[in-house]
Amino acid sequence: MDNKKLYIQMFSIHGLLRQDNLEMGRDADTGGQIKYVIELAMNLSRNARIDRIDLFTRLINDKAVSDDYSHPVSVINDKFRIIRIQCGGRKYIRKELLWPHLDEYVDKTVKFIKQEKRIPDVFHGHYADGGYVAEQLAGLFSVPFIFTGHSLGRAKQEKLLKDGLSLAEIDKRYKIQHRIHVEEDILKTADLIVTSTHQEIEQQYGMYRDNGFPPYTVIPPGLDVEKFHPYYHDNLSKNGTDEAERYARASVLEELDRFFLQRDKPLILTLCRPDKRKNITGLIQAFGEDMELQSMANLAIFAGIRKDISQMEENEKDVLTSMLLLMDKYDLYGKMAIPKKHDFELEVPALYRIAAEKRGVFVNPALTEPFGLTLIEAAASGLPIVATNDGGPKDTIANCKCGLLIDPTKPKEISHALKSIIADGKKWKQYSKNGILNVRKHYTWESHVREYMKKISPLRSETNMQGITVAVPSDAIGRRLVNLDYFIITDIDNTLIGDDNKHLQELCAILKENRQTIGFGVATGRTVESAVSHLQKHGVVTPDVIISSVGAELYYGKNLQPSNGWETHITRKWEREKIKTLLDGLPFLKYQSEQTQRKYKISYDMAPKKDRLTQIHDLLTKNKCRYNLIYSHDQFLDILPYRASKGKALRYLSYKWEIPLQNFLVCGDSGNDEEMLRGESLSVVVGNYSHELEPLRGGKNIYFAREKYAKGIIEALHYYQFIPKATGRMQT
Ligand code: GLC
Ligand code: MG
Repeated sequence: MDNKKLYIQMFSIHGLLRQDNLEMGRDADTGGQIKYVIELAMNLSRNARIDRIDLFTRLINDKAVSDDYSHPVSVINDKFRIIRIQCGGRKYIRKELLWPHLDEYVDKTVKFIKQEKRIPDVFHGHYADGGYVAEQLAGLFSVPFIFTGHSLGRAKQEKLLKDGLSLAEIDKRYKIQHRIHVEEDILKTADLIVTSTHQEIEQQYGMYRDNGFPPYTVIPPGLDVEKFHPYYHDNLSKNGTDEAERYARASVLEELDRFFLQRDKPLILTLCRPDKRKNITGLIQAFGEDMELQSMANLAIFAGIRKDISQMEENEKDVLTSMLLLMDKYDLYGKMAIPKKHDFELEVPALYRIAAEKRGVFVNPALTEPFGLTLIEAAASGLPIVATNDGGPKDTIANCKCGLLIDPTKPKEISHALKSIIADGKKWKQYSKNGILNVRKHYTWESHVREYMKKISPLRSETNMQGITVAVPSDAIGRRLVNLDYFIITDIDNTLIGDDNKHLQELCAILKENRQTIGFGVATGRTVESAVSHLQKHGVVTPDVIISSVGAELYYGKNLQPSNGWETHITRKWEREKIKTLLDGLPFLKYQSEQTQRKYKISYDMAPKKDRLTQIHDLLTKNKCRYNLIYSHDQFLDILPYRASKGKALRYLSYKWEIPLQNFLVCGDSGNDEEMLRGESLSVVVGNYSHELEPLRGGKNIYFAREKYAKGIIEALHYYQFIPKATGRMQT
């Protein structure tokens, strides 16, 4: 194990994430996960073996939400920052709509890494969206990838099916198929998966058993036990508690008092999002149907923050209205409180303590409960719990022995458990004490972080041994690319290769010699497979980047890692079938062999004749197609998405890896190179060029070499003084 301090990048993309005043429960995307990642990051930053932790989330610049979420960087302490990166525009949108924009997120994070000049030792993704981003980055940089699911698509889908939704409805609303695919992929590549409970591994991840067996580790999240101190502290340290805390307590009491006729009865408390699965209605039924329980205790339900029920989402609206209807049905006025708003920072901890002082019980009747943080908070405060016999609560009760498990679908079981604790003072005390002491033993962030560090250290040394992360950093393509500031990108056929190749080896030697400072890429009309085998045949060094099929595809490194960012970018408005059907109707076009056709490239052979190109453009434009047409060598006609071409792929590379266009030497010979030769880059047209490039003559930064093929490229290297510039040996 090495003792180098760690730099961790953590990704939690959706929801509203900031350091203070978490807007917990404001919407379905701003819940337990937000709190979890903030506290995990905070506590990791306190560990001596952590050098830095950056928590990445989405940058939101939207009047509908606080301005806090629009800050690109929030410095929390000297080791912990929140980094916000924009994707999919500025508006706050729900997580299901973020999928098409995650590649943009990956690309911008690469830029961030390049600007910071520092690659993390670990990428840790939370939930499928953050997992996707972390997975992509871990692949590029060959760094261990850790994943925390928080919840999984297959489990959610099953649940929704049981609720009576159809697959089509579920997919439309939750984009669940895509989420599941992403999760399947993640499970194949993750180096470690962190779960909060054992049940999560068995039941949730168990649904993905066919998708590889990543190593799992159960580390329950920690709790801020200072914040959730036991109820009797309020009496012990009357002078110690600060005023804000006292104020919170007073306002909670005042709020509760508005509802109750008999204020001193024990308080049954529940706290959750207004979500059907939380089964609030089951709880009201249990309370409403048991007169004995009603005479023993009051019930308070804090169900998220609401302003105007009619403005809320369907699921939430349903839950809140049925809450009101049931309250009426069982005539629970004066016995049941449904306060409108709660401030999570101070009022929630006060609430648990008030309920404990009143010798009450915290109840979680959810149909499923992956973790159930509120139960642990309640237990830490000395409030006994009654909880659903599912998921996290099973571990909580087993570890803490602070209450009872119930079947949430049986109202009688719920009320019976509540009564048995409220009526038995000895039992109440035992559960209260157990909760206070055992939470402090099992659920602190210090113990979480200790476990976490123990689990990630071997990951690192393992990869180190294999020489992936440290020994040969240049092997990881991302590591190499963030360190390069200069690039040579060349076409293959008739530019790099084509004559007797006398000078090809000379050029390869130059590339090898300057490998530390100059990257090497090809941009070709060939498919990636054909390009690779052709280069190998001619003994050309492995490129760092392959732009293939005239820019329809982009690959990185020896492993040919496809650039998903590029694919996402060019896919816009691409209608392959429609275009092909239209063009197949033109008699002068001959569809090329199937091997050359790609998802994002349709190719024909066409002899040059006046008006043919105009005819094609007219046909496609009239039919509202978006496309890019490239004609070369008086023969090849390529149709690509409008955002794709060799030149555009090159600009994308420059943008993503932060390599200025002026630091690219670009080499070509024909029409499909034209676009990449134009513009800011330094360009060379080799001596044996085809006539369609004639108009480039005299253009800015376009050098027409006298020599042909590879020798023309070498000539341009001298002409531009490219090597001295790139290596900083200019002045010698
Ligand atoms: C390569 C491809 C072909 C394409 C041509 C021009 O020869 O195989 O499909 O049309 O380059 O880009
Ligand atoms: Mg060529």
